[in-house]
Order: sequence, then C-alpha cells, then structure tokens
Amino acid sequence: MAEPNTPTYERTVPRVLMCAPTFFEVSYVINPWMTDHVHDTTSERSRLQWDALRETVARYADVVLQPPAEGLPDMTFAANAGLVFGNSFVTSRFRYPQRQGEEAHARAFFHRHGFDIVDLSEGVFFEGAGDALFDRGTGRRLWMGHGHRSDLAAATELAKRLDIEVLPLKLADPRFYHLDTCFCPLANGYTLYFPAAFDAESLARIERHVPPGLRIAVQEHDAVEFACNAVNLGRVVILNRASEGLRSRLEGAGFMLIEVALDEFMKSGGAAKCLTLRLDEAVGA
Ligand code: ARG
Repeated sequence: MAEPNTPTYERTVPRVLMCAPTFFEVSYVINPWMTDHVHDTTSERSRLQWDALRETVARYADVVLQPPAEGLPDMTFAANAGLVFGNSFVTSRFRYPQRQGEEAHARAFFHRHGFDIVDLSEGVFFEGAGDALFDRGTGRRLWMGHGHRSDLAAATELAKRLDIEVLPLKLADPRFYHLDTCFCPLANGYTLYFPAAFDAESLARIERHVPPGLRIAVQEHDAVEFACNAVNLGRVVILNRASEGLRSRLEGAGFMLIEVALDEFMKSGGAAKCLTLRLDEAVGA
C-alpha cells in the first residue's frame, strides 16, 4: 500500500495516438498563430520535429498511428479527433469547415479499432481532447474549454452521455483557443495552467478544485512557448520549451522534463499535446 503522500504514477503502459504530418501545412487561418504563417512551414522540418516527438513518446507509451489524409493539413493534431472515455469515442464536431473533413476519418478509424462511437447532437461544436481534459487522478472529472471552438452545450451533453462530472472553463484569450493550450492536468493532482487565459469565474473554478500546493501557474513567457501543451506520461512531461523557473517547479513536484522543439507546429497553433491523443483515457475508472 502506498503511503498517503507517496506520489503514484500509472502502472500500465499508456497508449497514444499520433497522425503523421505528411499533409501538414498552414494553408488557412483559423487561429491567431496561423495569421503570419500561411505557406511558411516545410514538410522536412515538420517531419523531423514530429519524428522526434514520436520517438520521445514511444519511450514511455505505445504509439498507435492514424493514417493522415490529403487535403486535411490539421489532421496531424490528433488531440482534436475526439474524446476517448473507456471504450467510448466521442467524435469531434469542428467549428470551422476547413477541419470538418477530419470527422469521418476519425469515426471510421475508431470504429475499426473497436470503440463505441458517441455522436453529440448536430449543431453542437466540440473539438475533442483539445478542449476536454480528464483529471489524471479521478478519471471521472472532465475539464472542458469553451468560448472559442467548443460550445458550452457540449459540456452538458458530455456529462449526461458519459455520466461524468464536467467542469466548464471559459477561454478568454484568442491565442489560447483550445483548453489544452493553457491548461494541463498532471499526475498526482498537479495542474499546469496559464491563469490569464480564463475568465474570472473559470479561474475561480480552477482554484476551488485544485488546492494551492498542486497549482503550477505559468507566466506568459512560458504560455506562449506552449508550455501548458504538455504530454504527461507517468512522471515524464514532454513539452516544447520551459523556462528555468518552470523547469525547477516541475522538477520540484517530482516530474522529469523533456523538451522537444515543435516550432513548425506552433505556426499552426499547436505543440506536443495537440499532436497526441490518449487512447486509454479513464479505462477502468
Ligand atoms: N491549426 C489547428 C487549429 O487551429 C491547430 C490545432 C491545435 N490543436 C489543439 N489541440 N490545440 O485547429
């Protein structure tokens, strides 16, 4: 039996979905990061960076690959495919037409892999694990971002359909348009987040649920480097870049940091976490 204060990490090997950036580019603008970067990425550089991320993730998890599709440059951001909960897969309904073509691919892929497909009501926008993050501890509490891409109505529906607690968080800064760009639940109840990305009520909600000692609030200089867009596998935290200050806070909390440069994907508004999707979310919860 673990002592009450002994950190505990996952005992099984996590499973993580990724989708190669074969067709990745910035060819339209649907978030502020993309504005100055149309046709400004190269496939060599994005492939190298993505390979480095895949190899790093594969040291701590089983990586499953979803085949990319031509004409869907953002499909490499696997987090947006949908939300996994046990054996259920809630497919995303993208706000922008440029990404809606991804929905059918995700549905077919997850169906083929034996998941029960859950479709939210038509007209309710929901961008999957980009906006919906489970508490790593309880596995039944879902934080859901809304205000830019996903609708608040999706929170109510998810709570009902999956029989879970959903805590909505309103996103206030257009640079942090998906919840996973500014908020990241970590092992043992720690939570990495950028406070200024939320409206006052949502910030209060975070502070009500996460005790002060477990809050790791990042400053703007780390937030704009996508420090909150982190992949947490056991005690490992994989992210684009963290300042010395943030590094020592995370290490002080028992985490081991690995930086993987992902600037090519940041031109599209995404980094480590956006490029992955946990397939074993809340299994057995
Ligand atoms: N260009 C993509 C978009 O704006 C980036 C998605 C990043 N994904 C994420 N989970 N934050 O939709």
